[in-house]
Amino acid sequence: MNEIINAPLYRALVHHMEKKSISFHVPGHKNGEVFTMGAESVYENLLKIDVTELNGLDDLHDPQEVIKEAQNLLTKYYKTEKSYFLVNGTTVGNIVMLFSTVNAGEVVLIQRNCHKSILNALAIIGATPVFLSPEVDNTTVTATGLSYKQVKEAVKTYPKAKALVLTNPSYYGYAQDLTSIVEVVHSNDILVLVDEAHGAHFSLGDPFPKSAIYSKADIIVQSAHKTLPAMTMGSYLHINNKELIQKIEYYLQVFQSSSPSYPIMASLDLARDYIQSLTNEKKLTIILSHQAFKRKLQAIEGIKLVTKAVNGNYKIDPLKVIIQSTNKISGYAIQKCFEAYGIYTELADPKNVLLILPLAQINNQEDIIRKIKTALKGVKASNREVSFNTDYKEIHSITELAISYREMEKRSVTERLLEKCIGHIAAEAIVPYPPGIPVIMPGEIIIEEKINEIIFWKNEGARFQGKSNLNTIKVFAD
Ligand SMILES: Cc1ncc(COP(=O)(O)O)c(C=O)c1O
Repeated sequence: MNEIINAPLYRALVHHMEKKSISFHVPGHKNGEVFTMGAESVYENLLKIDVTELNGLDDLHDPQEVIKEAQNLLTKYYKTEKSYFLVNGTTVGNIVMLFSTVNAGEVVLIQRNCHKSILNALAIIGATPVFLSPEVDNTTVTATGLSYKQVKEAVKTYPKAKALVLTNPSYYGYAQDLTSIVEVVHSNDILVLVDEAHGAHFSLGDPFPKSAIYSKADIIVQSAHKTLPAMTMGSYLHINNKELIQKIEYYLQVFQSSSPSYPIMASLDLARDYIQSLTNEKKLTIILSHQAFKRKLQAIEGIKLVTKAVNGNYKIDPLKVIIQSTNKISGYAIQKCFEAYGIYTELADPKNVLLILPLAQINNQEDIIRKIKTALKGVKASNREVSFNTDYKEIHSITELAISYREMEKRSVTERLLEKCIGHIAAEAIVPYPPGIPVIMPGEIIIEEKINEIIFWKNEGARFQGKSNLNTIKVFAD
């Protein structure tokens, strides 16, 4: 075993694997010995550490030994009150965060462009959400975050709110320093909960944005698997507020599997060791390598990179590369050409293509650049689409629901033509991408302005999440 790796859970698993023990326990693949023929070679190594709560391997739901040790190292590295491994992603982290802090009927201030796990949790809890519309960056036409002014106004209007739920950074990497927002919210005795799914690497400090952990938010959830070398579904939940520990620990074992994956947990242990071992020197090497790569991309004819935010106090996470066409080619068309040359991107929308860089040097830069150049030459005139080009005009800023989540559960749902929805209560969210901000949330009254906004985005070429036919909207029956 590599003696340099300081990851106690990973080491304990390897130690167990090396014993070549006989398995009469779950899982059914018995250390990989029983498996579908022909597929073993792909899974083989991983299955050897895919075990269960055996002696010496601790228990995530009552950690006393190696998992406790690994989580202590995580806590120490991120400098929190307490940090935890999550095996069901930031999805479960967000759900646990809300169940631990909010009760039925309580008011919660929510950044409107939040992940669905936040909305699902609020609906199941039966909380009373108040939605705050985020700012939008005009270069990418994507949602960024809430301004200090908006938050200050919201806490003044809703002094009894239990919590403010923020998403920082955005999917595209726009991030702001949350310190002054956290201070003003805390001074009103309101909790600050942050979905930092895309910011597990922010602990590295400059030039990466500041983590909400160091702005003293109460709970922060990070998808380690998104930007650190951890397995999919591996996330971290961090607490800065001691008073919340007991409830968090209760809900962690309510919502997470009672058979948490050891390969995922060990990868979280290793990912912490990986980022912790990035000395300033190593960090600089990575940053210089990224900068060189971006310069080469920037020099390619037909594309440009978005490197700065033009609205508000945001910076773009250096791990995110936003590419736009200079020839009115849509993000989707660029993404498709890249794929034809084996380059898979994180996402595309009508205007942008998003790449997430590795937290490591990019070694094969010349080869990648060559492929991209060839790929772009292949964009045929038929692939050209009108580029998404608009100044975002905010229509809704602070909104409440017309009926509670509990009431929504009782009502039946019907479908109405777009123009016949005005005055009815929406039973589904309508979310154009970009900018990824729900125009309509379930439970909101549909006003004429919102129908106009939907038509506007439709004409701009936005795609609507989960909706191929936008002639109708689901509404609650009266
Ligand atoms: C902002 C945000 N929050 C939460 C999630 C869910 O995270 P996970 O995939 O770790 O469950 C995502 C996933 O894309 C996300 O973008």
